[in-house]
Amino acid sequence: MSDKKLKDLPWQDFKALSLKEKGEYFLAPPYHTLIAQQFTREKLEELCNLATRIKRINKRREGANFLKTLLSDKRAMLYFAQPSSRTYLSFNAACQILGLDTMDVRDSSTSSEVKGESPEDSLRTFSSYADLIIMRHPKGGFAERVAWMMAHTKREIPVLNAGSGADQHPTQALLDIYTLQRSFENSGGIDGKHVAFVGDLKRGRTVRSLAWLLTLYKNMTLYFVAPEALQISDDILELLDTAGTKYEVTPDFASVMPKADAIYMTRIQDEWDMQNESSEIDISDFSIRAEHLEIMKESAIIMHPLPRRKEICTDIDNEPQAVYWRQMRNGMWIRAALILTTFGRQGEVNKYYDDYKPVK
Ligand code: ASP
Ligand code: CP
Repeated sequence: MSDKKLKDLPWQDFKALSLKEKGEYFLAPPYHTLIAQQFTREKLEELCNLATRIKRINKRREGANFLKTLLSDKRAMLYFAQPSSRTYLSFNAACQILGLDTMDVRDSSTSSEVKGESPEDSLRTFSSYADLIIMRHPKGGFAERVAWMMAHTKREIPVLNAGSGADQHPTQALLDIYTLQRSFENSGGIDGKHVAFVGDLKRGRTVRSLAWLLTLYKNMTLYFVAPEALQISDDILELLDTAGTKYEVTPDFASVMPKADAIYMTRIQDEWDMQNESSEIDISDFSIRAEHLEIMKESAIIMHPLPRRKEICTDIDNEPQAVYWRQMRNGMWIRAALILTTFGRQGEVNKYYDDYKPVK
């Protein structure tokens, strides 16, 4: 356990740290969740087990009522300065499951930022009324800045990064791990699996966070399948090299399809285009259609963080390989588990589970 504290570092020194070094500052109270690099495999396993326990307890009314007492003394602020359906709603639902009250700003144009208030002052304002901040922001690294800023005030509350710029989406990576773990629980778990990432890998923050979490598993092989202009950035490949995780970078989706145990599709992230330049890129070969199921492993799963466009044809939505709807719902359970551990209240769920052994 690291006892490094954000309040002991000037911002410039913190900013200059590597992602792995930064992660060491989030392992003590108030338990911020800001980057994928702060997680260990042990922590991922703890969260996945807790998510399943919460899900099972919640199935019965008395269990659901018990869960609602766990954080009824807390309030969460959801600040989403970028559009969101799933992350916002699943965090909100996770708060409701645990009895937290929520407040939100879903559009900065409805906050006093339009009067010239800085985003930093806005966040400090939110922290006056809440015990937890869940935030999505277009600026990469801004959630880290907010956490650092709060460590230098008298009210340091946890910050959960619900998506920052084109760099990180750590809680999406958690639900992706949970989905992989559940999908492969009867076939040896995640270790040794071949995972293909397809689409806009350059600007897709979900891939950047998940690729790193997969380095925590043994004997993985990752494939990065994209047109050259949208290929994964070197910084991620360097992290994989350092971790000793095998990977292949290729534009040839057809050659990867039969080898993959999981295919993780993504959409073009054209909100980051300067001048609509991705409309010029031919992405027709980076999609899945019904006939592709024939060449994939029978046991392979198809994932997508969503929203999708045309990269997954809707006629495969109800095939057993298509796990993206389940993946989305998993987000609610793993986010509930994360919020509970953020406040250190997981022991009460584990005790309830062991005492009552809820049915599957
Ligand atoms: N919803 C995910 C994100 O916010 C993926 C996407 O938008 O393509 O990063
Ligand atoms: N996967 C995801 O982050 O979805 P939203 O952008 O709808 O929240």
